[in-house]
Amino acid sequence: MLCMRWIETAAAMQGLALRWRRSGCKVALVPTMGYLHAGHLSLIRRARKLVGLRGKVVVSIYVNPTQFGPEEDLARYPRDLARDRRLCRAAGVDVVFAPVDGEVYFLGTNSESSTYVVEERLSRGMEGASRPTHFRGVTTVVAILFQLVLPEVSVFGAKDYQQAAVVRRMVRDLHMPVRVEVAPTVRERDGLALSSRNRYLTVSERQQAVVLWQAIQHARGRVRTGAGGIPVERLKGELRRMVARCPGARLDYVAFFDGRTLEPVAEVKRGAHLALAVWVGKTRLIDNGRL
Ligand code: PAJ
Repeated sequence: MLCMRWIETAAAMQGLALRWRRSGCKVALVPTMGYLHAGHLSLIRRARKLVGLRGKVVVSIYVNPTQFGPEEDLARYPRDLARDRRLCRAAGVDVVFAPVDGEVYFLGTNSESSTYVVEERLSRGMEGASRPTHFRGVTTVVAILFQLVLPEVSVFGAKDYQQAAVVRRMVRDLHMPVRVEVAPTVRERDGLALSSRNRYLTVSERQQAVVLWQAIQHARGRVRTGAGGIPVERLKGELRRMVARCPGARLDYVAFFDGRTLEPVAEVKRGAHLALAVWVGKTRLIDNGRL
């Protein structure tokens, strides 16, 4: 791509999106918080496939404050816009939308943004239980990005499985004219899911972080060998002990659920879905997989 555009204001982004729409151009959006890695790049490739060479691929880069809790890592979330720009250009992105402060949410005493989008079912458990205001921030920012970029398709990663399900539900419930595509999780060689937060890990924490993948593999092994279902509490106990054996790792939650409805399952069988969150030192990592 010869000329990739870098847009920092809402008005410029929406103006361009409206011109594209009038000319019948297909647009795909990949929303990110930046500090891009191979997982994000796989979403960009998927976006390009979906709209073709004549369509437009937009990557948004915005560390969205409303999805971080007061005690969370908003201030230290890794940022490197220069590197992100190089990666996007090499990946053939048409536009990077990297809004500056005040462009996504309105600021100013008594006139700041006061409208939120809240999904009230799929966002309750798991991440929503551990991070009560998180999904309200995600749905709100994604709805705003959809208004500014006007994509016909938007690509999300299976790494954040519940997030993709919540966004899908919002799109359905609010009749948003966007298709949500979900691309598979990209992993390191040892199975650790790529994440911008892996950057926080020390060398020894990085070794321990593989326990999330080991837990998924253990559960897969258990449902694939045993006959019939396994009681949820028994398998949870096994995974809890696995994580406990890892010094410096602490299990936040592990959940077994139906991958379509996100409802907890009564017993764990092949085809069920597993999600877990583990603290490794001061870093909270999540992962999930179909069993
Ligand atoms: P971020 O964590 O930057 O992730 C952006 C997108 O990349 C998400 O759809 C996420 O699921 C996907 N992704 C992350 N790691 C991945 C991996 N290892 N393999 C495949 N896809 C991966 O998720 C967010 O940002 C934000 O919540 C956002 C949706 C941008 C809203 O602020």
